[in-house]
Amino acid sequence: MHFGSGMADIEQEKRRAAARSLDLVRDGMCLGLGSGSTATIMLELLGERVRAGLRIRGVPTSEASRCLAEQWGIPLTDFDHVNRLDLTIDGADEVDHDLNLIKGGGGALLREKIVASVSDQVVIVADSRKRVQQLGHFALPVEVVRFAWKPIAVRVRQLGCTVQLRCQPDGQPFETDEGNFILDCNFDRIRDPRQTARVLDAMPGVMEHGLFVDVAHVLMIARGSQVEVYER
Ligand code: 5RP
Repeated sequence: MHFGSGMADIEQEKRRAAARSLDLVRDGMCLGLGSGSTATIMLELLGERVRAGLRIRGVPTSEASRCLAEQWGIPLTDFDHVNRLDLTIDGADEVDHDLNLIKGGGGALLREKIVASVSDQVVIVADSRKRVQQLGHFALPVEVVRFAWKPIAVRVRQLGCTVQLRCQPDGQPFETDEGNFILDCNFDRIRDPRQTARVLDAMPGVMEHGLFVDVAHVLMIARGSQVEVYER
């Protein structure tokens, strides 16, 4: 945690990281377009470049990002038309020193992981608060089928976390773009992210989880006026 950073400083950090990531974008690329507030800034800046003549196409990782991209005039495509992406730029909720991530704070983890998995390069943009020694302080989002969310929650709890069904302000369950529910799983510490990911991957009814292990290639994390770049 970067104590002493106000919200305005954090916004600036997000903007700096987002801006730096666009240095990797080249004419003709097919891009994965991330979700969340940092990715939103990236989309805004990408829109400016498109209006200035940059020719790219993007596959959004959420309906929210699709709307933003359309609003900023970013040409879109989909997996009916492309199988691979050159570069995905996305945010994260936590990043450890091996560039393993927790994602899904915004509930877009399923599409985010699919888009990342078909990308030649995955770049994560983040503010300084996101860097952690060990993943797990941020509750791990686990996307599950609605049909059996309660028994799945019981099984997930056996991994040693507390589990909460994500709800909207009106008390109704939050529904993902794919019509699933999200369990927010508080581990406090995830000692072995790879093993936890394996166990969740093997659980029937778990559609996806927010542990992104060996997915990110590059982390661009802003700290004050600097952007630190780490590669895996
Ligand atoms: C959405 C995500 C976001 O990338 C993650 O929550 C980070 O968001 P922000 O940039 O707003 O902190 O995974 O599902």
